[in-house]
Amino acid sequence: MDAESNSSGDSLATAAATSHNGEAPLLVLDAISQEFPNQGGAPTTVLKDISFSSTRPETICILGPSGCGKSTILRMVSGMYDRHVAMPTAGTVKIRGQLVTEPHDQVLTVFQKPTLKGWLSVRDNVLLPFKSVLWSRGVSPEEQAARVDKMLHAVGLSQAAGLRPRQLSGGMQQRVSLAARLVVRPSILCLDEPFSALDPQTREEMQELCLKLWAESPCLALFVTHDVSEALRIADRILVLSTRPASIVVDMTVPSPKPRSPEWLRSEECSELERDIIARIRQAVTHPAGAVGTLRVDV
Ligand SMILES: Nc1ncnc2c1ncn2[C@@H]1O[C@H](COP(=O)(O)OP(=O)(O)O)[C@@H](O)[C@H]1O
Ligand SMILES: [Mg+2]
Repeated sequence: MDAESNSSGDSLATAAATSHNGEAPLLVLDAISQEFPNQGGAPTTVLKDISFSSTRPETICILGPSGCGKSTILRMVSGMYDRHVAMPTAGTVKIRGQLVTEPHDQVLTVFQKPTLKGWLSVRDNVLLPFKSVLWSRGVSPEEQAARVDKMLHAVGLSQAAGLRPRQLSGGMQQRVSLAARLVVRPSILCLDEPFSALDPQTREEMQELCLKLWAESPCLALFVTHDVSEALRIADRILVLSTRPASIVVDMTVPSPKPRSPEWLRSEECSELERDIIARIRQAVTHPAGAVGTLRVDV
């Protein structure tokens, strides 16, 4: 379960990059480090030697203390760099063998705050990505319309297609955000604490929705969350980052097939995993000496 046990030698990510039937893996982060400039002082090292890879559509939940660099990792994967900072400082991110150097059209992100256009209807918000040549190439207007209708149905919003975002609840708005990403069928979907502003019941409904959507149209989901129960419900794999400078302290596969039954989620095996992950996050905050980060764990 420890990251240490599978990151020995040159690099796990590099090894995976050459061992998958000659086909480039979907995503490889290889020895990533990130420093940010500090006004007047030495640069802050946020990420240090982060390596992981994924060869198939799966859900990877990323947990770690606030400020340790989780969102920074997602920005590197999507190519949404801060213009004034070189990203990454060291190491490489590759998608299907191609170096990521700019916003990638196969990677889309859902944020905590839904990013919807208030003046457009729900339907037009979901159709919006097709206004860009990036995603409309090779998709006829008929096919676009059919995909939008299918997505609206999949997220349970067919009846709300004509409404404006302000007429929707927070959970419904986040459904629209999800639909507006999945409609272009990205290979990688980054989700940055997408449900943390929602009430517990809506959050659970959204988790169920994600399980359904990803079963119907698989993609690699990189899902940042503070909620360990959420991770145990939806993840195939869980990564835990230490505090800054962050490294991967846990890289584990959740040993229960999905969808996970309520019995498993209440089982001793699941509780033990939950306790273990929380302990590792706490440990990651208090060590090493001098490290920075605050703990927020929801269970
Ligand atoms: N463009 C930037 N310039 C300077 N510091 C940054 C920049 N982007 C992020 N940081 C810093 O890097 C650290 C990690 O940020 P972030 O990835 O947002 O953390 P997390 O998502 O884990 O809470 C924070 O201390 C943040 O202030
Ligand atoms: Mg963040």
